[in-house]
Amino acid sequence: MCADKLRKPLRLIAAACNNMGIGKNGQLPWHLPHEFNFFMDTVTSVSRPGKLNMILWGRGTWFSNPECIFVKMPNVLHVVISTTMRTVPKHAHFLCQDFDTGVSLASLPHLCDLVETIWVAGGPQVYQEALMHPWCDLIYLTNIMADFDCDVFFPPFDKSTFVKQERFLGVPNQIQEENGVQFKFEVFKREICVAEVI
Ligand SMILES: NC(=O)c1ccc[n+]([C@@H]2O[C@H](COP(=O)([O-])OP(=O)(O)OC[C@H]3O[C@@H](n4cnc5c(N)ncnc54)[C@H](OP(=O)(O)O)[C@@H]3O)[C@@H](O)[C@H]2O)c1
Repeated sequence: MCADKLRKPLRLIAAACNNMGIGKNGQLPWHLPHEFNFFMDTVTSVSRPGKLNMILWGRGTWFSNPECIFVKMPNVLHVVISTTMRTVPKHAHFLCQDFDTGVSLASLPHLCDLVETIWVAGGPQVYQEALMHPWCDLIYLTNIMADFDCDVFFPPFDKSTFVKQERFLGVPNQIQEENGVQFKFEVFKREICVAEVI
């Protein structure tokens, strides 16, 4: 049995601009292929062949992506969260009616030995639930250092609970620039709570 492996690291990944905006009209407000490649590399990274990550997608975010990106994510199980859809969308592996059901898939007997990390790819309500989840240990949040008109926003979170890391293994530390837009990859780590120390 794999009872000790039932709990998985659960991590948010997003990019937000100066006003914490993340989207506009169902799309990203910016065109930053290098930043998007960082997303792709991060969520597909596993420790060894045969291992998998799981990505949780809200319905809107799932359909905001071109289908071609899903075929470039070989190590990933895609979970779409929706109360209205009735069939698993093309390229996805699971459809769940709520966030917790999606998370619990990673602990199923036939998956718990395979799944390493649960990545949460948004949108806002899915991020909100992820921030509240006890398994959530890291937020990968690219700081897009510019103003964009947005209609969806990354939810506020407590910066004393999730502390910005000066450096983080595997994450470039320098300010990046693409298409005249500066951005910085940032990682916020949950402080160990007292109950865990005891
Ligand atoms: N910059 C970034 O890093 C980033 C990341 C992600 C998304 N975005 C942007 O965000 C926008 C898409 O966001 P969105 O507002 O459409 O949000 P979304 O969360 O992607 O989609 C919302 C829908 O997902 C389902 N859903 C979400 N949470 C749920 C829950 N807890 N339980 C059950 N169903 C749930 C619902 O579908 P039903 O209505 O079918 O129930 C809901 O209407 C796009 O502009 C996208 O580009 C940006």
